Amino acid sequence: MTPQIIDFSYLVAAVLFMLGLKKLSSPATARAGNRLSMLGMAIAVVSTLFKQEILSFNLILIGVAVGAAIGAVAAKKVKMSAVPEMIAMFNGCGGGASAMVAISEYHRLSPDFRIFLLVALLLSVVVGMVTFAGSIIAFGKLRGIISGRPVVYAGQRIGNGLLGVIVISLAVGVCFLPANFSIFYGLVSLALLLGVLLVIPIGGADMPVVISLLNSLSGVAVSMTGFVLGNNALIIVGSLVGAAGLILTRLMCEAMNRSLSNVLFGAFGAVEKAAAATGTAPAGAVKSYTIEDAVTMLENARALIIAPGYGMAMAQAQHTVRELADLLEERGVRVRYAIHPVAGRMPGHMNVLLAEANVPYDRLFAMEDINADFPHTDVALVVGANDVVNPAARNVPDSPIYGMPILNVDQAKTVIVLKRSMRPGFAGIENELFLRDNTMMVFGDAKETLQKIIASIKD
Ligand code: TAP
Repeated sequence: MTPQIIDFSYLVAAVLFMLGLKKLSSPATARAGNRLSMLGMAIAVVSTLFKQEILSFNLILIGVAVGAAIGAVAAKKVKMSAVPEMIAMFNGCGGGASAMVAISEYHRLSPDFRIFLLVALLLSVVVGMVTFAGSIIAFGKLRGIISGRPVVYAGQRIGNGLLGVIVISLAVGVCFLPANFSIFYGLVSLALLLGVLLVIPIGGADMPVVISLLNSLSGVAVSMTGFVLGNNALIIVGSLVGAAGLILTRLMCEAMNRSLSNVLFGAFGAVEKAAAATGTAPAGAVKSYTIEDAVTMLENARALIIAPGYGMAMAQAQHTVRELADLLEERGVRVRYAIHPVAGRMPGHMNVLLAEANVPYDRLFAMEDINADFPHTDVALVVGANDVVNPAARNVPDSPIYGMPILNVDQAKTVIVLKRSMRPGFAGIENELFLRDNTMMVFGDAKETLQKIIASIKD
């Protein structure tokens, strides 16, 4: 292949990646988007193989076969709820691979570096190693291999800040003494340590935001490696990943009412404590209702909005939710689903579960598109959601979730809440919605309660 054909292939791949990303923004086109991106990746990989001529094709094919087999089995076997930890692993591999390529280039070129190339190489090593180590810790926390609780100790932030300064100083040192392997490997080791120390203070439930940020960093590392190798495809792909990861991080922060600096400077672990501290219990008494009470309300409703949350995922109740919706629709009830951007524990968590249960896309409504409809809705059915329907976000200025946009389920004529107890959700705070006059608490596992409701309606 001539360099022109290779560059043209990279251009085609880049366009396919962008189209793929665009299509990923809607559940209806997401599969097509994934296929386009896969095609782009295949074109980029094959073109690169023709370009580099580093290894024999036999070795490359063995590598491709082994990698594809591991990837395919892992992707097939992974449970939906374990997707964030799989992404963490992918990010770690991306960051680690970029750093390894940069390290090998360091040895190949040492000590004759152009300064621009050396800076890109060092950025790839540092960002790649931080991403690798941070992702392994994130994976471990989500998997439960290491404690998901925030690991905090005195002087942590100052210590991490100092470590950051040392890492930068070592990188500057390598620029002045590029042939000194001790400084270089000191930098590699401390970058790894920094990755570990930056992620351990963050609680397991906050890992999806961290993973999104690490995803962005892995893109930066890949992009830097692209500069080191003079490979346009890596530069483009890395930039796309870096930007997409950062945008997703920002969207998640906004939906959780946190600033990006709050995320970057590790206030994550403190959130649960802050939540516990603002424990002003809302006034009122909890009223527990029976299945029959709920059935009466549902049968008499003309418009129903279902608000799912983390509890639906825990109970694996998505199929039962759909069964109930089908049953009520047959009886003339208008059923829609209200999706909060951070309901559950990962981006798109509710969309994925409801898609798995074959809920039609046109019944799913983003929070901003459906919030105005709650006052005209007979029943809002809250299935295992808590924080994302907590009116404290609007009414209680000292609440840790104050300012977070929520689903306005409390404005529906009747709210039916399915959860097991009065225990709080992720933010660790009380929810006055559960005490309101128009709220019916039906306690129990969401799936079991829904099954009983369905059986009763069928009777
Ligand atoms: P949560 O506020 O965490 O509430 C979930 C509720 O589900 C709990 O109160 C729990 O109450 C109930 N539940 C658990 N298992 C259940 C079961 N088997 N049956 C019925 N109910 C069950 O969830 P949410 O409203 O979806 O809010 C998400 C929270 O996670 C937000 O605070 C958000 O900021 C945070 N977060 C989200 C993300 C993303 S990207 N989605 C990432 C990080 C953090 P019981 O124990 O009483 O049953």
